[in-house]
Amino acid sequence: MSIFTRRHFLGSMGALGAAGSVPGVLAATQGATGAMSKEITAIEKEAAGFANPLRLPGSSGLFGVLPVSEFREVHVVRSEIEVLPGRRTPILAYAVESGGKKFLNPAILARRGDQMRVRMVNRIDQPTVIHWHGLSVDSRNDGNGLKVVPPGGSMDYDFTLRDRSSLYWYHPHAHGYIPQQAYHGLASLLFVEDDDETALRKELDLALGDTEIPLVLQDREFDAQGRLRYAPTAAQSFGGWVGDRLLVNLTERPFIEAGRRIVRFRILNGSNARNYRLAFVQGGRPLDFFLAGTDGGLLAQPLRIEQTFIAPGQRLDVLVDLREADPALPVTLASLTFDPMHNEGGHDMGHAGHAAPPMTHMGRGQHGAAPAADPSHSMAMEGDARALMRIDLKPSAKYQRRMPTVLSSLAAVPVPVTANLPRRMQLGHNDKGNWTINGQVFDPKVAALSVQQGARENWLIQNAERSMPHPMHLHGFLFRVIERLGSPATVRELAGARGLLPQDQGLIDTVHVWPGESVRIAIDFTHPHAGDQDFVFHCHTLEHAEAGMMLRYTVKEGPG
Ligand code: C2O
Ligand code: CU
Ligand code: CU
Repeated sequence: MSIFTRRHFLGSMGALGAAGSVPGVLAATQGATGAMSKEITAIEKEAAGFANPLRLPGSSGLFGVLPVSEFREVHVVRSEIEVLPGRRTPILAYAVESGGKKFLNPAILARRGDQMRVRMVNRIDQPTVIHWHGLSVDSRNDGNGLKVVPPGGSMDYDFTLRDRSSLYWYHPHAHGYIPQQAYHGLASLLFVEDDDETALRKELDLALGDTEIPLVLQDREFDAQGRLRYAPTAAQSFGGWVGDRLLVNLTERPFIEAGRRIVRFRILNGSNARNYRLAFVQGGRPLDFFLAGTDGGLLAQPLRIEQTFIAPGQRLDVLVDLREADPALPVTLASLTFDPMHNEGGHDMGHAGHAAPPMTHMGRGQHGAAPAADPSHSMAMEGDARALMRIDLKPSAKYQRRMPTVLSSLAAVPVPVTANLPRRMQLGHNDKGNWTINGQVFDPKVAALSVQQGARENWLIQNAERSMPHPMHLHGFLFRVIERLGSPATVRELAGARGLLPQDQGLIDTVHVWPGESVRIAIDFTHPHAGDQDFVFHCHTLEHAEAGMMLRYTVKEGPG
């Protein structure tokens, strides 16, 4: 046993007593020799040049932290910020004024049970609507796009935040405008806190913006003036728009400083189409971390892992014990290399008269045609090994907190498995350049299916072999993943029992379904809302949803 595997093995064993099991960790460890350590060394070299302090949520301004009770209006506006140093970038933003301070895309803070009472005023020249991603609110307050707000119009939201503590988020949902509006800046965070959350913060002595750090992962493309470029070709409107620059909290090539303690990262993949294979690395190898929560809040126990995928729309709540790191070296948050599985291309997919290139080469084609604004940056293709952020370790006050063994009472929440045959959701595409669910292209006027309020259903989401990964998102309800079958090798490497990935251990609102996979999920359609409620189920690769991969469904009010 080499020193590395030995240290690693002991580390994992130590964790087993205190926390959950470790799917995939041995396989991944064996892979951490040779090729992987070369890859990681290259990532760390890239990160060494990162010189921009990470943008953090402060008390005002961009991503300023704002309690839900302290504002009554959100204006959707055009604004301008500095993303690339020295250049002004026009953006779309959620603007709020509160207590004499101005906020752009505020990070909203709420306590479970709080009321969201806010008027959205549309001050741009396109229809829009705010969707509260992950919250189980009624159809009207969901902002699912079945009703939108015209330019100059407004809409009043009024609902109780009754969800578990977690990182939720908000973004536009007017069909026909979602990808471009989100890409141009309309997206931010919504933290819901409850007693589990308060206990965890206290136990680990965490403070938001300092030792608990939200990370919004996005990829963007800029022109020479620093303006965002979003001009998908037919192939990119179908396959998804992948920007060539990686941003964290709208900071390119960022770094932070952190003490030798447990640090919490609340990670959102806010990209339109890009997937990431996240790992923390140091000295040529991955550093174990703990998955503490998923889309729908804290896991029962922290789960020690080495890497995990995050798809558009998904969130990860992560604890990294930096005392396990070498104090003499920085740690890097990275996306490791993977096959993005853009397998839908080829001769059977000519759409609208365009000879579509095989999608595996799509990213390259895209950037081959568009000269980069700045020749010094290298383009990030999806699946390339890349550094996302460097973490410099600094000496810090003595910290003796331990990784908690219990995070929440999720283990006591029954998984709504049923004996009934699952409802099938077949993911595919047609020859007109549309993505489909059960062969259907989205029609907002038609409810493609209905379920009974209070029903427990299992859905079997089946992705075609010749397809792309689809992060399928359900509005209105969180759900559990029961099993994954037919997973591609990249995914199997990280999977544990029943093919489940790390975040399948939690409550989620978005499940990543890879080409060839059949994923069984369990949904409890219980909610307190009176009357029939309409929601949507869609792919969170925003271009895929625009290209038809969305369906409307109705939750029928129960008898009585
Ligand atoms: Cu995050 Cu229907 O969306
Ligand atoms: Cu949503
Ligand atoms: Cu998709």
